[in-house]
Amino acid sequence: MKIIDFRSDTVTQQTPQMREAMFTAAVGDDVYGDDPSVNALETYAKELFGSEAALFVSSGTMGNQLALMAHTERGEEVLTHHGSHIFQHEQASTSVLSQCKINPIIADNDHLTPELIARNCHGNSLQDSKTACIEYENALSNGTVYTLQEMQAIDEIAQKLDIPVHIFEMFIDVLLEVSVALRSTWTAPASSMP
Ligand SMILES: Cc1ncc(COP(=O)(O)O)c(C=O)c1O
Repeated sequence: MKIIDFRSDTVTQQTPQMREAMFTAAVGDDVYGDDPSVNALETYAKELFGSEAALFVSSGTMGNQLALMAHTERGEEVLTHHGSHIFQHEQASTSVLSQCKINPIIADNDHLTPELIARNCHGNSLQDSKTACIEYENALSNGTVYTLQEMQAIDEIAQKLDIPVHIFEMFIDVLLEVSVALRSTWTAPASSMP
């Protein structure tokens, strides 16, 4: 019997074609902007998502933490659901690196909704830390994924509240398909994605 291991995306193995592509890739010093493969990937991602820039990072955690640092100021907070990777699996990185608090929301299926976001976001006040970023992904959601409609609804409320959204790489496959299909009418519902 053929067993397919769905414990994590990280247990998948590279195909021979992927290994061949790595072996023959043009490489250079990325610090000097001399790596043609990294440059091509960043240009491709930037154009695909219509963003100002794209940056190659070597892990999901690194991408998450860089994005949170970019979106927040010291003493602010990041709203996410309680099962999210940034809350459960990245040690206390957000507190250490961004010096921000995480506001972990309990949500059905670990899915944030516009209502939950509106109810739990804070503005400037003497007592609350200001919500500087909304983050969502599906690390501990038992394999459930946000639909495009859910993502667009979150984007709408975030725009109304003027708060940037950060989403995790797992959505990129979906986003790629959608952006190819709807390229003229749709932009990525997030300010940053690792
Ligand atoms: C939702 C989510 N965020 C972040 C990460 C961390 O990625 P990495 O192990 O590349 O740091 C993972 C890993 O699977 C993840 O599922």
